[in-house]
Amino acid sequence: MSKTKLKIENLYKIFGPRAKSFIDPVKNGMSKQELLDNHSHVLGLNNINLDIPEQRIQVIMGLSGSGKSTLIRHINRLIEPTAGAITVDDEDILSMSQLQLREFRRKKTSMVFQKFALLPHKTVAQNVAYGLTIQGEQESIAKEKSHKWIESVGLSGFEERYPAQLSGGMQQRVGLARALATDAPILLMDEAFSALDPLIRTDMQNILLELQKDLHKTIIFITHDLDEALRIGDNIAILRDGKIIQKGDPQQIIMKPADDYISDFIKDINRGKVIEVKSIMQKGSSSKGASLDSSCSLEDALKVLNNEKDNECSVVDDKGKKIGKVTLDAAIGALFREKASRNKEKYK
Ligand SMILES: Nc1ncnc2c1ncn2[C@@H]1O[C@H](COP(=O)(O)OP(=O)(O)OP(=O)(O)O)[C@@H](O)[C@H]1O
Ligand SMILES: [Mg+2]
Repeated sequence: MSKTKLKIENLYKIFGPRAKSFIDPVKNGMSKQELLDNHSHVLGLNNINLDIPEQRIQVIMGLSGSGKSTLIRHINRLIEPTAGAITVDDEDILSMSQLQLREFRRKKTSMVFQKFALLPHKTVAQNVAYGLTIQGEQESIAKEKSHKWIESVGLSGFEERYPAQLSGGMQQRVGLARALATDAPILLMDEAFSALDPLIRTDMQNILLELQKDLHKTIIFITHDLDEALRIGDNIAILRDGKIIQKGDPQQIIMKPADDYISDFIKDINRGKVIEVKSIMQKGSSSKGASLDSSCSLEDALKVLNNEKDNECSVVDDKGKKIGKVTLDAAIGALFREKASRNKEKYK
């Protein structure tokens, strides 16, 4: 288990002039709708508790209005909470002075925005170097550093272009390079890829995952897209009406959706591609047959299992050590479980 980088405790955000006076009613069960209808205040976040591990990608997922942006903006205190605590590296960000906060925002966090937010009259190179120069870095060093990041996002040769001369995907590469150039350990990404076409979006996801293998940043990645969440997230927290209704790794969310809302959310995913063998194996059991990697997808496992004489395989970890077994029955069961339980509901 990696160390907690960011800890969010009992966080509430109510929008409106008398926000604080509604904390107790909300704690005692007043709903978002009731607060809005009867008191004209908006419940943005409702008792958020989340430990974000260091060097991992934490996805925050939820539909429009569920509180994703409100939550991420608390992390660099662009929004002040109505109640609760946020600590980064065990430091309470809510008690920071203006000066400390400015340092924290510059040195520890960087952001990638949905609408790229590039400076239109500056070149690619100048845009990427911008964060460094406002940090007080010498121009020549800023130039050198930004060159490296431009290269890392695959934009070498485009340094002297202006944002308007680039496609959306290329502009967002600039946005990513700019965010990475400051070396901040925490990367905040609010729907950073949502404005891009599907193919370009997948490209950007690949670039991010590839870079993360070396960078090991703590990334908070917001999306309303389940496929993106499953692909990108080491951990996922699902928000609804300002509340976290489930948190876990992608496998936990797919295998054990916390309620009907999440079951419904995940009903259309391609279970064969997303579920991994480790989620359906019997631990430690003696096993026969070929070895399957624990992160092998159900789809790939089915082909192998079907060809095995006993329809059974052993499961090995990333070091090749046997850790359990998996059977064809279990694999088929996992593939159809969601459908089966939904049908049961239908015919009750
Ligand atoms: N400044 C504000 N004043 C009043 N209400 C606000 C304010 N900012 C956000 N809200 C409300 O708080 C709730 C959460 O909004 P938020 O923008 O965090 O949602 P989101 O999940 O980011 O949505 P989207 O996917 O559309 O970006 C919504 O009900 C929104 O209307
Ligand atoms: Mg938002």
